[in-house]
Amino acid sequence: ITPVFCNATLSDARSETVELANIDWDNLGFAFLPTDYMYNMKCSQGEGFSNGELQRFGNIELSPSAGVLNYGQGLFEGLKAYRKEDGNILLFRPEENALRMRLGAERMCMPSPTVEQFVDAVKATVLANKRWIPPAGKGSLYIRPLLMGSGAVLGLAPAPEYTFLIYVSPVGNYFKEGVAPIHLIIEHDLHRATPGGTGGVKTIGNYAAVLKAQSAAKEQGYSDVLYLDCVHKKYLEEVSSCNIFVVKGKVISTPEIKGTILPGITRKSIIDVARSQGFQVEERLVTVDELLDADEVFCTGTAVVVSPVGSITYRGERVLYNKGGVGAVSQQLYSVLTRLQMGLVKDNMNWTVEL
Ligand code: COI
Repeated sequence: ITPVFCNATLSDARSETVELANIDWDNLGFAFLPTDYMYNMKCSQGEGFSNGELQRFGNIELSPSAGVLNYGQGLFEGLKAYRKEDGNILLFRPEENALRMRLGAERMCMPSPTVEQFVDAVKATVLANKRWIPPAGKGSLYIRPLLMGSGAVLGLAPAPEYTFLIYVSPVGNYFKEGVAPIHLIIEHDLHRATPGGTGGVKTIGNYAAVLKAQSAAKEQGYSDVLYLDCVHKKYLEEVSSCNIFVVKGKVISTPEIKGTILPGITRKSIIDVARSQGFQVEERLVTVDELLDADEVFCTGTAVVVSPVGSITYRGERVLYNKGGVGAVSQQLYSVLTRLQMGLVKDNMNWTVEL
């Protein structure tokens, strides 16, 4: 790949007035759209990451023997940048993604960028792709950092070289339902994670592992799948791409982080937001039976934000929430969180980073 833009500084990119890309901003979904630049930084096993640079977005070259291709030694992250009405750009808790990548890297025997390297790289990539950040209120720029064993291996071992990449794409709603409630089916036999496994880190294999159940669910008209724990088959775990919350009166419960649940940054933020709104939040084992008399159910994730659940089907029985409409609690939490992320209210939490 030909490196370009390497000499541009953050302040150059910040002060530049760029025209918006010429795309249909009113109909963004969650499909990949190539943008202008990506970030690339490498490191050999035993050394630190260095010499990261912005490059023109394009294909990358990998040895067919790369650790990530052969043994799945890879992690990804997801975060978003929003354009404010005044034109400034906001990131949401990028250091949390950096820290989560570091924890995941430790589990996957990979070196990882420092928090500062990660956050600086995210800022540089966002600013270089400024024209792809949707206008205020039309969506966000989804930022996808990747960490992979790019060096060649044949026997099973950590790769000798690692690549940290960031690419970005403008996005709107994740689910085709848009802001309308989603419909879930509970999977009884296929599981997302096992105790002692990698369910608690954002490794690429966790997501490939759910495709079979997810495809079957979509074929039957469901939006996605809710997984149960693999030991007792009765505790809620998470949905393919997001965490789950169950509302009963003023109590909101969500599966506790115990190795098989992905520690979502939106999950963590919603817990704080809900408490600040007077709800009691419990992180604990949540049984599938609790879904039967819940008032509301919603999912959280960077991509899905806060997605209300309209119905859940389990072993042929369907439970409908709020007559299939959006529940008041989901609506309230969505609104408080997104107003903060988009810079529409003062950020008393100190979560946003303005570029
Ligand atoms: C995210 O919400 O950012 C994720 O990483 C989930 C992904 C499957 C879209």
